[in-house]
Amino acid sequence: MNVPNHVAIILDGNGRWAKSRNMPRTYGHMVGCDNLEKICYIARDLGIKYLTVYAFSTENWKRSKDEIDGLMKLFRRYLKRCIKSSRENEMRVRIIGDTTAFDEDIRESIQVLEDYSKGYDKLHFQIALNYGSRDEILRAAVRMADDVKCRMLREEDITEEVFSSYLDTSGIPDPDLMIRTSGEERLSNFLLWQLAYTEFYFTDVPWPDFHKEELVKAIEQYNSRDRRFGSVKGEASCSKQG
Ligand code: FPP
Repeated sequence: MNVPNHVAIILDGNGRWAKSRNMPRTYGHMVGCDNLEKICYIARDLGIKYLTVYAFSTENWKRSKDEIDGLMKLFRRYLKRCIKSSRENEMRVRIIGDTTAFDEDIRESIQVLEDYSKGYDKLHFQIALNYGSRDEILRAAVRMADDVKCRMLREEDITEEVFSSYLDTSGIPDPDLMIRTSGEERLSNFLLWQLAYTEFYFTDVPWPDFHKEELVKAIEQYNSRDRRFGSVKGEASCSKQG
């Protein structure tokens, strides 16, 4: 099996999964959170080098206070627990998104986790928190304009690579495969720049039920696709990253 180097996942369906069991949405997030922990071990074992997940969007603040409170509680607990799984997986963890919106203690936990795990490289795990791709692109553009203004960067040197280096995902290769669980087939403002050439896989399976077999199925489907770019099917140059 040809394992994609970078898999990105939109974790969707926790709420519906819980509702179908007559449980509160927060219970769905809890089970989703446990599943995320397991998927990191599985991704590492499968040989995936980069895993990026969309856990909390800039839009998610519009949810009810109860749900937001539940999610913040979960993030607090998860960020601490993640120290252990980063060690066991030799996994570097980075948070992408605008973390300035979070409470001080959450920001501190993020810092501790990122510092603790920065020497690991078996799996690079990115968690998108308060992330929105348009927001990320705007923040990058503003920083780049600042650098041009103070002559740290020359306008004529701006290339796609330079622009990428201003994004939250700087230094991280673009995803090869993007998975969205739970039936929706849209990007919801996730990695708009980075997904330009990525294969998409949509499944009806809600995130809490997305286990190893589902991930393997997504990778098999990815493998069966004819990866082409800018060339005609059957041409010798048709290659994976093409
Ligand atoms: C989408 O399901 C999920 C979220 C908005 C939150 C994702 C959070 C987790 C998987 C758990 C915590 C993650 C970390 C990093 C601690 P939904 O609520 O939109 O489900 P629905 O579409 O069925 O309503």
